[in-house]
Amino acid sequence: MNYIYSEVTKANNFYGNTDPVHLAEKFGTPLYVYNENILRERCRDLKGLIDYKNFFVNYSPKANSNVELLKIVRSEGLRVDAMSPGEIYVNQLAGFTPDEIFYISNNVSAEEMQFAIDAGVRISVDSVSQLEMYGRLNPGGRVAFRLNPGGTGAGHHKKVVTAGKKTKFGIEMQFLPEVKRILKEYNLTLMGINQHIGSLFMTGEAYVDSAKTLLEVAKQFDTIEFLDMGGGFGIPYKKQDGEPRLNLKDLGEHLSETINAWVKEYGREIEFKIEPGRYIAAECSVVLGEVHTVKENYDLKYVGTDLGFNVLIRPAMYDSHHDIEIYRPSDIPSKGMEHVRIVGNICETGDIIAKDRLLPQILEKDILGVLDSGAYGYTMSSNYNNRLRPAEVLIESNGGYRLIRRRDTLEDLVRNFV
Ligand code: LLP
Repeated sequence: MNYIYSEVTKANNFYGNTDPVHLAEKFGTPLYVYNENILRERCRDLKGLIDYKNFFVNYSPKANSNVELLKIVRSEGLRVDAMSPGEIYVNQLAGFTPDEIFYISNNVSAEEMQFAIDAGVRISVDSVSQLEMYGRLNPGGRVAFRLNPGGTGAGHHKKVVTAGKKTKFGIEMQFLPEVKRILKEYNLTLMGINQHIGSLFMTGEAYVDSAKTLLEVAKQFDTIEFLDMGGGFGIPYKKQDGEPRLNLKDLGEHLSETINAWVKEYGREIEFKIEPGRYIAAECSVVLGEVHTVKENYDLKYVGTDLGFNVLIRPAMYDSHHDIEIYRPSDIPSKGMEHVRIVGNICETGDIIAKDRLLPQILEKDILGVLDSGAYGYTMSSNYNNRLRPAEVLIESNGGYRLIRRRDTLEDLVRNFV
C-alpha cells in the first residue's frame, strides 16, 4: 500500500503494526479504528489539569461509549457521567460502580428517574419540576442540580451551546429560592451542583468565568460535596493546517487558583470535577471509507465513498471540519492536487463529509481516513437508508489490533419487527 497523504497518522504511529489498507480489506469499510495509546494519553492530560487533591475527571460517554474504550478510560482512573438509562447500563458493563456514575438527567420520565435511583448512582436534575419529581420518588435523598450560569456559553455551533438565554438546559439563578423550598419540603440534601456551558472551546475564558459563577452560587448551600464544571474542552480539527492545541497548562493554572481560594473561604474540602467527552475520545479514532466513484458534476469533482452521514454526521449536522487522509492499495501515483467534494452514499444532497478540499488526486479504490472521528462519531451513527452501522477496531498499546464491535448485519435491521 502507499501512504499518499497521511502526515498526521504517520507522526503518531496511529496504525501500530498494521496499515489502513490491510484493515479495510480484513474488516471492510466503513470502519472505525481506535488507537489505545492516544486514548490513554488524553485521559492523562486531563487528570493532571487541576492542582487540587479531590479533583476528578468524569468522562462523558455520549462522545463514545464502546465498552472496550470505557474499560480503558476506567483503567486510567476516570469516572463517568450518564445521560440515559442506556448509558448507566453500559457504564456498569464496563465496570464503573454506582458511586462512579453521575446521571445528568434532562426531561426524564418518572420511570427513568426511578431506574437511576434504583441503580444507586448520583443524580442531577435539570429543572425545578424534575427536582420535585425526584423529591416525590426519593424523599430524604441526596441530589444535585444543573445550573444555567447565564453568560453566552461556549461551543463550535449554536446547536451545542448549553448555557445562557438560548438553551433548554439548567436552572437559572432566579429560581434558586424555589430549589431551596423543594429541598426543604422533601427533606433532600443538596450534594452538588453541575453545569456544562457548551461543546468545544479553544480558549478557556468563558469556562473559567462560568466556573466562578458556579462557585459563587455554591456558597449559598452548606451541604455541597462536589462541584462539576462541565466539559467542552476542544481539540484541533485542522491538524493538517497546524492548528494549535488548547492551552491546558494555562487553563489549569487559572482553575487551580480559583478553586483553592474558594475552598479556603468555604472552609471545607469538597470534590471538583470536569466532564470532558470530545477531548478524551475524538483524536484516538480515524474512520476509514472506500472511494467507489470519482465523477464530475457541473464543474465540481465529486469523490463518492461509503462514508455517508449515517457513519459520521458531524459535517452534515454542524458543518464540522475533519481532516482527510488518503491511502492507496495500488502503486499508481496521484497527478497533482485537485479541488474535490467528498460525499457519501446517502440519498441527500447534504451528504457531504468534506466540502471543498484541495487534496492529492484521489482514485477509485483509495481508502480515505477521516481524522478525529472518535467523539460523536459512532455514537451518532444510524441505520438511515437501512445502511449497516460500521465495525470498530482497536489498535492496542502493543501495536496489534482486535475487533471491538462487529458491523451490523441485515438481520440487525429487522430484529425489532413484530
Ligand atoms: N456534560 C454534559 C452535560 C454534556 O451535555 C456534554 C456534551 C458533555 C459533558 C461533554 O461535552 P464535550 O466535552 O464532549 O464537549 N454532537 C456534538 C457535541 C454535543 C455535545 C453534547 N453534550 C458534536 O459532535 O460536536
